[in-house]
Parts: sequence; structure tokens; C-alpha cells
Amino acid sequence: MNPIFPSILSTNFFNLQDKLREFEKSRIDFIHLDIMDGHFVDTISFGPGLARALKEKFSFRLDAHLMVSNPAKMIPHFIKAGVDWLSVHVETAGDTPGLLQMIRDGNCRAGLALNPDTSLEKVRPFLGMADYVLLMSVFPGYGGQKFIAASLERAAQLKREIVGQKSHCLLQVDGGINAANAVLLKEAGADLFVVGTSLFNAENIEETIKKFLNQMQWSQS
Ligand code: DX5
Ligand code: ZN
Repeated sequence: MNPIFPSILSTNFFNLQDKLREFEKSRIDFIHLDIMDGHFVDTISFGPGLARALKEKFSFRLDAHLMVSNPAKMIPHFIKAGVDWLSVHVETAGDTPGLLQMIRDGNCRAGLALNPDTSLEKVRPFLGMADYVLLMSVFPGYGGQKFIAASLERAAQLKREIVGQKSHCLLQVDGGINAANAVLLKEAGADLFVVGTSLFNAENIEETIKKFLNQMQWSQS
């Protein structure tokens, strides 16, 4: 699986189709969709309609990151729209095991996301149940923010915890990622990298993805 998950949040939506064609050329497997409800985070983004439209036209798998206060209400809509992976935030008051199970019952991979100021203790009990953990390296809500350096140590700690629990959970990091910090994150144990601005602002997306992958010494088998 290609470890780069482009986030389309920061794109100019009028150019989205062209950008997606470039991702196809770069053999990207997953597109990351940032779903916002204007409550868990300040603003809103897009919903299941975009996921459905993308699925109809492209063969990417979709990873929906639900930054919403009531994920239980939204999950069924995204499952119906055809997403493949779905993550919910541990900070949302709710039955975390129940939410993860609801996602899995919809034949999707279940992820658990946490904010930069949320204690790692909060996710520890669920590492055996989640398919992936999404460690936020910026505060959720906006693309284009600066990577929070403390995320490197948090990623390393989280990875130690995952390995210690003999969990198969993958470690995904999201926010402010560029080719330079991606290498450090990989060394810290990250498996998957959500990348928005540094890809969409790049003059040549294909070259930029290559650079990311070369630096991480990743090769498609
Ligand atoms: C922030 C989102 C991220 C973010 C990634 O709320 O979850 O996916 O937009 O984009 P960059 O790389 O611009 O931080
Ligand atoms: Zn995200």
C-alpha cells in the first residue's frame, strides 16, 4: 500500500479532477477525506456526496476522517457512500468500542483519531480494536498548519505501545507533513502519512510524491 494519503482539504475544488489524475499516475492508493461538522471543529468541509462521486469516477480507496461531534449519526452515511476506511475521534463523547464495531460491521477498516493535546492514555485501551490510529500533528480544522514537533515523540510512544500490545494497528499521522518531517516520522514508527498542503502546493505532484517515497526508501512491491 502506498503510505502517502493525499488530503484534498486544501485543494482548489475546481481543479480536483486534474489533481486526482496526477495521484493516479503516482500510484496513490488512498485519498484522505477530512469531514467536518462545524461543531467538533469550527468549519465544515464536504460530506458523503463527494465520497460517492469520487468512488464512481476513480478507483482510489477512501479514508474518511470524521472530525464530527456525533460520529454514530454520520458513519452509516459514509459506509453507504462506499468509503473503505473510517476514523472517529476519541475526544467525542461516545462509546468508542461501539463506534469501531459499527465501522467494521460496515466492512470498513476502523480508525481512532486523537488531537495533539489528548493524552495517549486515552487511546491505549482501544489499540487492540482499531485497525489504525490517526495521530494529529496539528489541531484539527484547517489544512496548511505547521507541524507540531512534539508529535515525533508522541508517534514513537504510540508505536511502542502498539508493539507492546502486539496489536496490528497501523500508525497514521496527519497534519503539516512534508518530505523532511515524514522521514523523521517514519523513523519514529509511523506507517501512513496524510499529506495536504505540501502536495497541493507542489509544482509537480508526481515528483513530490517520488521525493517523499525515495526519502522514506519505500518501493512498490
Ligand atoms: C486537519 C486535517 C488534515 C490536514 C492535512 O484538520 O485533518 O488532514 O488538512 O493537510 P496539511 O498537510 O495541509 O496539514
Ligand atoms: Zn485528516
